Parts: sequence; C-alpha cells; structure tokens
Amino acid sequence: MENAIVFYLSANKKLATDVARKLSLPLGEVELERFKDGEIMARNLSNVKGKDVIIIQSTDCPAQDKIFEILILADSLKNSEAKSITLVVPYFGYSRQDRIARSGEPITAKVVASLFQTADISRLITVDLHTQQIQGFFKCPVINIDTFELFGNYFVKYFEEHNIKQEDVVVVAPDHGSALRARDLGSMFKNASIAFIDKRRPAPNTSEVINVVGDVKGKSCLIVDDIIDTCGTINNAYDALIEKGAKEVFVCASHAVFSNGTLKDEIKHVVVTDSIQKDIKGVKVVSTADLIAKAIANR
Ligand code: R5P
Repeated sequence: MENAIVFYLSANKKLATDVARKLSLPLGEVELERFKDGEIMARNLSNVKGKDVIIIQSTDCPAQDKIFEILILADSLKNSEAKSITLVVPYFGYSRQDRIARSGEPITAKVVASLFQTADISRLITVDLHTQQIQGFFKCPVINIDTFELFGNYFVKYFEEHNIKQEDVVVVAPDHGSALRARDLGSMFKNASIAFIDKRRPAPNTSEVINVVGDVKGKSCLIVDDIIDTCGTINNAYDALIEKGAKEVFVCASHAVFSNGTLKDEIKHVVVTDSIQKDIKGVKVVSTADLIAKAIANR
C-alpha cells in the first residue's frame, strides 16, 4: 500500500503500531485532548491530503468515548482532505444488542453503524463480529475477520506440546450464538467433536446453563466464545462440563472485555486476542495484527 497512513486513538496503540509496521506505513499524529467540560478534541497533525487513512480503534469500555473519538478524528481527517477512511474496529462495542429480544429494546449495533456511516468511512474492518448480520447495518463494505485459524493453530501446537490427542478434544460452544465458531474451530483438529451448551439469560449480566448437548466425558474441552465480559458464561460452562465428566477445560475468546469478575483458576489455559488492549493475569494473548494488516492491504 502506498500513500496511506495509520492512526490510533486511546484504545489500540500497540496493535496499530504492529499493523503499521507490517504494512510499512507511517503512523499519523493526533492531538487527543479533553476540554474542561469533558468534551473530546481529536486534532490531526499529519499531512493526509489525498491519502488513504486507516483508523484503528476498538470501542470497548468506555464505548461512548471511543466511538466519539473516532467520529471526531474522522471529521478532522476529512477537513485535512484525506482521500478515504478505512475504519478498523477490532472489538465492536454495543454489538450484543443486535436485535429486539424483548419489546421496547433498541438495536444498538445499528445505532453505532449509523454513526460510523456519518463519518463517511469507505469500509469497515472488524474482528469476530458478535453476529454476522450486523454487516447489513452498513452501506459500505464490511470485512469481518475470523480468528478460528489463529486459535486453531495455537491450540494444535499447545495440545501437541502437552501430549493431548486431537481426537480427545471436544470444542464447546458455550451458547447458541457460538455454534458456528465451535464448528469452524473444530475443523482445525483431527477427529475432534463438538458440544453445545444450552444457555439462558434470565437477566442482563446473568447466565444459566440448561443442558450440555454432546459427549464430554473424559474429554479435553476447548470452549470458544467471542466475548468474555463478566466471566459468567465461561465459568458456568466450566461447571457444567466438569459435572458431565470432562477431564479438563481450556478457553479461547476473541474479545477480552473482562468488565467484572474473574475466570475460575481451575481452567487449564485461557487465550484471547489483542483486539482489546488489556493485561489479564494468567491469560495468553495472540495477536490479530497480521490478519488486520492483510485485510487492509487486500483492497
Ligand atoms: C453472548 O452472547 C456472548 O457471545 C458472550 O457469551 C457473552 O457476552 C459473555 O459475557 P459474560 O462473560 O458476561 O457471560
């Protein structure tokens, strides 16, 4: 890519720097400030005239601020005559409210998509969107990067190093929403099987296991989810799997929100991506920089 420049704001300095390095692109300079009343100012200080600009920013907590930083910087870049804006949102905040589940509820994923459209972005790149249909809320092209190969390759090596046979592995979806994720990840192992957990949410931030579908007795279970937030889904899945006779439990999840709570110490190994810049004790991070760089370059 030529004549392009990569910007980061408050969320993903390390990831943006890694992506820029992989693409041999310069990093843009931004003055990111707060006025006394809390309003955000994001002022472009680089020459972007006629250039393709890439903004990399996840919209994790506080999502509102991070969304606004993007909108404000995009305006500044347009005022500086940028040719196009590619918006990379590795973790797309507000994506879990993607449909009306109970009457009167908003569809926040659509609200955020509409806001990004007002910034006149040319395309959106994201990682493991909560649901694929969120792509339909955008008028511009949306590239949704899948991480199952990243996790699959990681765990193929890990299982080999720890003498765990691939045929003894069961990939577990901790709820209905992760069923396809489990199938994709399962395809990375020889003769591994799949199991599903029937999860209900009686109230926001509370999850309940109804049943485990599939044989996990004596197996090494690898749970795959898109988000770890309060840790309830994974911890409940762990309990249910152990109760059904699982030998051990491993976890991989794309987005390390970790807003509250901790994962059970008994879980053997936990792997997340760097979509959210956060250090969590005992949690291994694998980088999406390569996948994002390829998605940006493949125009
Ligand atoms: C739910 O639909 C998501 O895929 C995750 O399972 C959920 O967001 C995890 O949240 P928590 O860690 O709070 O249970």
